[in-house]
Amino acid sequence: MKQQIVLTDDDLLARGNDRYVFQHPHDSRLLIKTVIPGIAKFNSKLREVYRDLKECKPRNETDSLFMQKIEGLVETNKGPGQVIVKEQDEQGGIAKTLYQLAQDNELDSLKLQKLNVFLAWFVGTDVIINSLHCKNIVYAWDSARHEYRFKVIDGFGDKTFFQLSKLSTAIRDKNKIKCLRRMLRDLNRLQ
Ligand SMILES: Nc1ncnc2c1ncn2[C@@H]1O[C@H](COP(=O)(O)OP(=O)(O)OP(=O)(O)O)[C@@H](O)[C@H]1O
Ligand SMILES: [Mg+2]
Repeated sequence: MKQQIVLTDDDLLARGNDRYVFQHPHDSRLLIKTVIPGIAKFNSKLREVYRDLKECKPRNETDSLFMQKIEGLVETNKGPGQVIVKEQDEQGGIAKTLYQLAQDNELDSLKLQKLNVFLAWFVGTDVIINSLHCKNIVYAWDSARHEYRFKVIDGFGDKTFFQLSKLSTAIRDKNKIKCLRRMLRDLNRLQ
């Protein structure tokens, strides 16, 4: 059996509605995401842990600039965990979400311009993204290119039973517009 990684409360960096996000205890560049025990959607979120491996896949080099990177799966004391590259700010802290930036009034014209670049990518990509809310977008420092970029860190794939957006570009486009509208409405409310 593979060695189990032990995660403690001290390693906890963030949490969403469904997942805990831990610092990887053996590698400062990585995170481990596990499903929060006891949530109503526990079993479907557990399936997502495996499904994301397939769905969170860039189709080309540009996609990989705008998406979080999954390195693989590990066994942890908190259940199966996704090993993910930690998006960081220039100082090496965990990257801020678009939600945090808006709340802290930090969306200046440069960041808004970068948000436009990100949204242009979102509109054109073939990667299916089902949930583009402001906490699923982070402002990340790219040390290789010496620039910040907004990136999506959650919400990959089509959750409908028949995965309609895989069959039809029209449905995919309609879903994208819905996602985009919702995100921009939330962002306006936060500002
Ligand atoms: N790759 C990453 N790099 C930096 N921070 C991240 C990364 N992935 C997640 N986070 C942080 O952890 C938080 C929760 O992660 P994530 O969105 O994956 O959890 P979730 O529970 O599935 O979310 P939701 O509430 O949308 O269901 C994010 O809002 C973000 O602050
Ligand atoms: Mg999320």
